[in-house]
Formats: sequence, structure tokens, C-alpha cells
Amino acid sequence: MSLRRIGRLFTPYRWQMALVTVLIAASSVVTVASPFLLRAIIDTALPDKNLRLLAVLVAGMIGIAAISSAFGVIQTWISTKVGQQVMHGLRTSVFAHLQRQSIAFFTRTRAGEVQSRITNDIGGMESVVTSTATSIASNLTTAVATAVAMVAMSWRLSLISLVVMPPAIYLSRKVARMRRAITTEQQRELANLNVSIEEGLSVNAIALAKTMGTGPSLIQRFTASSARLIDLELRSQLAGRWRMASMSIIFAAIPAVIYLAAGLPVTAGVMTIGTLVAFTTLQNNLFRPITGLLSTGVSVISSLALFARIFEYLDLPVDITDPAHPAKIDPGQVTGHVRLASVSFTYPGADRPAVTGIDLDVPAGSTLALVGETGSGKTTLAALIARLYDPTSGSVRIDGTDIRDMRLADLAAIVGVVSQETYLLHTTVRENLRYARPEATDAEIEDAARAAQIHDLIAGLPDGYDTMVGSRGHRFSGGEKQRIAIARTLLRNPRVLVLDEATSALDTETERAVQQAFDNLAQGRTTITIAHRLSTVRNADQIAVLDHGHIVEAGTHTSLIADNGRYADLAA
Ligand SMILES: Nc1ncnc2c1ncn2[C@@H]1O[C@H](COP(=O)(O)OP(=O)(O)O)[C@@H](O)[C@H]1O
Ligand SMILES: [Mg+2]
Repeated sequence: MSLRRIGRLFTPYRWQMALVTVLIAASSVVTVASPFLLRAIIDTALPDKNLRLLAVLVAGMIGIAAISSAFGVIQTWISTKVGQQVMHGLRTSVFAHLQRQSIAFFTRTRAGEVQSRITNDIGGMESVVTSTATSIASNLTTAVATAVAMVAMSWRLSLISLVVMPPAIYLSRKVARMRRAITTEQQRELANLNVSIEEGLSVNAIALAKTMGTGPSLIQRFTASSARLIDLELRSQLAGRWRMASMSIIFAAIPAVIYLAAGLPVTAGVMTIGTLVAFTTLQNNLFRPITGLLSTGVSVISSLALFARIFEYLDLPVDITDPAHPAKIDPGQVTGHVRLASVSFTYPGADRPAVTGIDLDVPAGSTLALVGETGSGKTTLAALIARLYDPTSGSVRIDGTDIRDMRLADLAAIVGVVSQETYLLHTTVRENLRYARPEATDAEIEDAARAAQIHDLIAGLPDGYDTMVGSRGHRFSGGEKQRIAIARTLLRNPRVLVLDEATSALDTETERAVQQAFDNLAQGRTTITIAHRLSTVRNADQIAVLDHGHIVEAGTHTSLIADNGRYADLAA
């Protein structure tokens, strides 16, 4: 399938590859000269007691070994470098490509699967990408040179040697197919193992496992995956071993047959002892390159399984991407007028739309509150405004520009999101804040933390802003993480702010501090608040009530209470 595509990965390195090939060809030609020297030693130098000739011939043999070893070192250096570069290229392009995937991809992909492909699958290619080209070049030239030399010495004996080829090729093909199937299974199982690690050894997973008492079953699952790997590797190794064993037997039979042939009346006396010895040496030399070539074939074919998994990721279409002709906007000049026109959205694979026919107009600098029961579509609307998904129909506009026509970087500068689940990187508080704006000064970071009502707490920690937040921010309570997230968003200074149930998990005490932080954050921005507790949305300029993906009511707190409808029910 993708042999040509694999070949294309090497095109940037064609000159290095060409150099390696030349080196290899040179060293195999040189090596093949050795048996001719041997023949001259046995048939001429030794019987004639010609010491000078003997010295020259012996020096030649040593020289040949030295030259080909030196070539070998250079060749390993170049080919390893090329192989590593190819892997580096694959790793980085998979990373970059997946990075561009929308949330939908990460929603459907198991945690651990992506890591497994980038590390295990690309890692598994290492031997193939570093050694295939050189192995083909060296084995092929050695085999050809040896074969030529064999024919030159005795074409009759050469013909006899040919009988080993068909069974050797047949065996290799069979093993290659087996290995490819096994490799596919192995990589799948390795990914399972990785998923088990992710689901068994991350902070959140461990907390769940400990409280649910599911530790033993996690261990069982991991053990089963690991045990299947033993079985697969055994099968893979044995398949290879059987092939090698059968080929050794076949190849060992050849010299025996040749000695027999040499003794037959027809051929007896036709060749010298020197020819016979030199020929079997050559023939023995042929064994290595031919098995080498066949083994390379086997590993290339089994590695197709790895490449297939990587190419599958590289070929994923990017569904949310920069427009071909982005609108020219300066995020600093945007006022933040948000408009949703007949927006409907159905999640990929879902049978019902999550939101339908949503019309909303949020003037610049005003606040909109979205309320409604769980599952009514509030988070979905927030995601559509941040363009984590594109609407199935209808449009989201900011200052009149469809957000699909904006560069993603511009949109990210305009819209800021704080959600209930805050994700913190495993680094210091300062670095977590600086993630939002790499060029922010320490003073700006502290100002943001002050406005987010978190400065005093951070400053009171033994290491202050250099405190590590722990994996996913586990060191901090929900309210503290929330305020760090607010400080982070303040640093980005977005014109449009989306707050998705950002205070729902907090107790009233922290909520007051966080609410104060939110009020500071919301000042002068267009704010879309999704709130669980209606107390926090009273002052919104408009309130929209969602139910099963539809807006069923809209107005202000006072007007909606007066209407005595759904909102009044929720508020009661
Ligand atoms: N990634 C998803 N894939 C499929 N359906 C989803 C996805 N996320 C949410 N939904 C569904 O969409 C509906 C709206 O969900 P959501 O917007 O999260 O509601 P809310 O935030 O109001 O609780 C729900 O029925 C939910 O099950
Ligand atoms: Mg929600």
C-alpha cells in the first residue's frame, strides 16, 4: 500500500542515502576481492613458496578488512542520522496535525491512544527506518558482487547454488505476512496498555479507583494486556526463528552438495582445490546478504502495520481550521458585539440536535445569562461561540464577521472562556498564568492575580508564585483553581467572555470571592454567563432560558419574573 509514501519520507535525505549506497557498494566490491586473494595464496603463493607475493596478498586481505570496517562506521553514522530525522519528522508532524484537530477528535479518542501512537508506533519503526536502506544497499551489492565472482569462478557450481532461492523466498513471504498481522495486534495491545496506564495511574483516575475500590480490576486489566503482549512477541520471534533455522539448513546443504559435485566423474579434475575452497567461501558469503535481504523484506512488511497507524492520524481531516481568506480584523479594535442567527448544532454521531434555531443578540459590553436545566444545551452554545465546534446551520458573528471567517488566533484573542473544569499545567503558578500571555511581566501577572482575588493566597504560599500546582492543579481547591483560571483569562484580556458554570462547584464563601473576581473580569466586556445558581444572573442585561436546545423565554430578571413562566419556576 504505502511503500511509495514511506519512500517519500526519505526524499529530503536522498544525498545522504546516495552517499551511503556508494560507500556500501565500494566496501562490498572490496570485500569480494578477498576470496580471489585467498585463491592466489593457496594455488600460487604457497606452492611456489613465493614469500613476496604472499606478503602482498596477506597485506591486501588485512587492508580490505580495514577499509570495509571504516566504511561501515561512516555508513552507520549517516544512516542512523537519516533514520532519526525521519522519525523526528513523523513525530512532529503527527503532534502538529493532532494539535489542529477539533475537540470532537479528542472526545472520541481514548486517552493514552495518541501517546501510544506517537511513542510506541513511531518508536517501533526505529530499526526499520534506520537500517532498511543501508541493509538493502549493502546486502544487494554484496550479493550481486559475490554472485558475479561465483559465476566467474565456476558457472556450473553457481547453478547448483541457485536451488536454495525458491524455498528461502517462499518462507520469508509467509513469515512477513504473519509478522505484519502480529505487529498490528501488538500495537493495538500496546495502546490498550497505555490506556490502562492513563485510566489507572492519573490523579483523577486514582481518586476514582480508590473510592470505588476498583484497584484490583484495574490491575487485572493491565495484567491481561501485558500478558497478551508476551504471547504476541513470542509468536513474532518464533516465526522469525523458524524461518532462520530452515534457511540455515538449506544453506548448509549447499557446500556439501558442491563437494559431492566436485567428486563426480563428470566434473572431477575440472577445478582446482583452490577454486573449490574459494567457491564455498563465496557461497558461504552469499548466505548472509541473501538472508539479510529477506529479513529486511520481512521487517519492512511488518512495519507497514506501524506506518498504517501513523498515516491514519496524518490523514485525519482537520474540520475546524483557519479560513482560506481570513477577515482582516484587529482583535484590539473589536467591540464584542455577539450575534447568533438561527444556530443549530448536532454532535457528530448524535441523533438529536443539541441546540436548535438559536437567535441571540448580545450588544458590545452587555451581559447575557443562559439558564436552563442540565442537558438543555448551555455548554454547547458556549462551545459554538468559542468555535470549538461549527454550527450545523446558522452562524455566530462577532462585530458582524462570521467567526468561521476569522483566523483562529484572532478568535482566541477575542473570546475568552472560563469553564467549570479548569485545566492547569504541571508547573508553577507563575508559568500557568504566563501561559495565557508569554510576554506578560511579573507585575502584570500579579495585577491579574489581584483582580482575580487570588494574589494574597499565592503570595502566602511558601514558594509564592513559584509553587508547583501539581498534576492538573491538584494542589489547589476548586475555588482557588477557578480564580487562577480567571487571572489567566484576565491576562489575555478578551473582548468577549464566556463563563460556563464557573462558580457552580464552589461554596458560598469562596463564591463571593470568585464572584468578585468575575465582576472584575467582566467589566467593560461582553459577557455570556451560564449559571447554575440564579442569584448570580439577576443583574444580567438579558436572560435567555434554554430547554431541550430551544430558547423558550428571554428578557430581564424583572420581566421574566413578571411573566411568571419557566424562569419564575426555576427561580422559585
Ligand atoms: N460531545 C458530545 N457528543 C454528543 N452529545 C453531547 C456531547 N456533549 C453534550 N452532548 C449532549 O448535548 C446536550 C446538551 O448538552 P450541554 O450543552 O452540555 O448541556 P448543559 O450545558 O446545558 O448541561 C445533552 O443532551 C448532551 O448529552
Ligand atoms: Mg454544561
